[in-house]
Amino acid sequence: MSRTPLPFDPSGIQLDRRQGLSRQLYQALRERILGGQLGSLVRLPATRDLAEALGVSRNTVVRAYDQLYAEGYLQGRIGDGTYVAELATKARSKASHPPVKPSAPAQSNLLQRLQTEYLPPPRLDAPRAFRVGIPAFDLFPFETWARLQANFWRHPPMASLGYADAAGDPQLRELIAAYLRNSRGLVCDPGQVIITSGAQQAISLCAQMLVNVGDGVAVENPGYRAAGKAFALAGAQLHGVAVDEEGFDTRQLAGLKDCRLAYVTPSHQYPTGVTLSLPRRLQLLEWAAREQGWIVEDDYDGEYRYRGTPLSPLAALDQHGRVLYVGTFSKIAFPGLRLGYLVVPPTLTEAFSQVRALGVRHSEIGTQAVMAEFIAAGHFQRHIRRMRRAAQARRDALLNGWPAAVPGCQPLPVVDAGLHLSVRVASRARELELVQKAAAVGVELNALSDYWLPDSPGSADDRAGLVLGFAGVSEDHIAKALTALKKAWG
Ligand SMILES: Cc1ncc(COP(=O)(O)O)c(C=O)c1O
Repeated sequence: MSRTPLPFDPSGIQLDRRQGLSRQLYQALRERILGGQLGSLVRLPATRDLAEALGVSRNTVVRAYDQLYAEGYLQGRIGDGTYVAELATKARSKASHPPVKPSAPAQSNLLQRLQTEYLPPPRLDAPRAFRVGIPAFDLFPFETWARLQANFWRHPPMASLGYADAAGDPQLRELIAAYLRNSRGLVCDPGQVIITSGAQQAISLCAQMLVNVGDGVAVENPGYRAAGKAFALAGAQLHGVAVDEEGFDTRQLAGLKDCRLAYVTPSHQYPTGVTLSLPRRLQLLEWAAREQGWIVEDDYDGEYRYRGTPLSPLAALDQHGRVLYVGTFSKIAFPGLRLGYLVVPPTLTEAFSQVRALGVRHSEIGTQAVMAEFIAAGHFQRHIRRMRRAAQARRDALLNGWPAAVPGCQPLPVVDAGLHLSVRVASRARELELVQKAAAVGVELNALSDYWLPDSPGSADDRAGLVLGFAGVSEDHIAKALTALKKAWG
């Protein structure tokens, strides 16, 4: 019996009999249509003929054709067989030409900005003298924390296991609002408190929400580089503002016409340790009200004040809803907890919650609930008092044990607040020498030069100094580190 020749050669179609045959046939035909081997309006063999040619059942071919019909690759003419659809030409022309590769890899703006905004890697070993940014980990009541954790997870409220409020645990937000009222004189509604993953996320949310690409952002110089980098990553043009004995020099804002936001650490400037004076606080608030600018107030270590009463935070003085207040549990508990908060003006609460919801939904429930219980049961207040006493004793160990005269290094300052101090050194070369000699005997000193923006005014020597954290290790460790330093420095 003579056969009708098939309109296309199916011999290249290889089907694996261990797998779904009609699916494979559908894919093989679709590939040929998209690749152009089966052109528009080419007639396909009758199902019986193709089944015979491939050695499969007719049903297999019918199912493959049906799928191709359903997706628009084939069209039929009644009584006249099956044809490749004309529609397929468009798909084919797209599919048969590989996409043109750009000569350079396409990069998002964010990726490009990131190239200059990397943070140095964190130190991953145990705390040492004189690491900055860490409190007394050794005094944290881990037993109490473990008990509260166990209590929570033994019988977690079923209602709390689903998706939760993006702004954070309501009880924790209430307790933070009460804490801020009592300890800082900052009166806010719990609804204005947004729980974040540490101060850093609070700062970067502010950058994301309040800064447009190209906006000016004023940052303290020297200052907290991780904050500056978060604003730069959002596309801000950073303006370094000098810090003098009254703190952030608000007079410089007048010359920064494009400035939309100022990031400041008023209670204890990082890293110089200066407190922002009341006149400067009022000037800064006036600037924000006049220019419709924003102030991000980072109160990262406000719990540590050893003398005098702290000045009211900017957020407590703000009459125009221009201040976003950032707080963290990193310096009272430990940074690994990643728990912080923002207090935002009422007009922004919904927007900040939304952005958190779209980013991470919300923070993990256990840590929030346990922190709420830790505060409610009085452990937090007790721990603050313990930490303040310890930091003060460790500060004294450093101040009293520091070598009497270190050539090229000014005497250590009076330290009334915080967990670190900074001191000027005569030149960049001397700063490097002191840091390197200390490192050689296992003592960590930080170069003040690293806290300045690139292209800061003045010479490298004007920016030299040392930054010393004193709270991370015991008085004993501090004494040993000082003995080692004295030897290393001769
Ligand atoms: C000025 C300043 N802000 C914020 C933080 C910390 O924030 P986080 O809560 O993200 O650990 C630090 C840590 O050293 C800091 O120095």
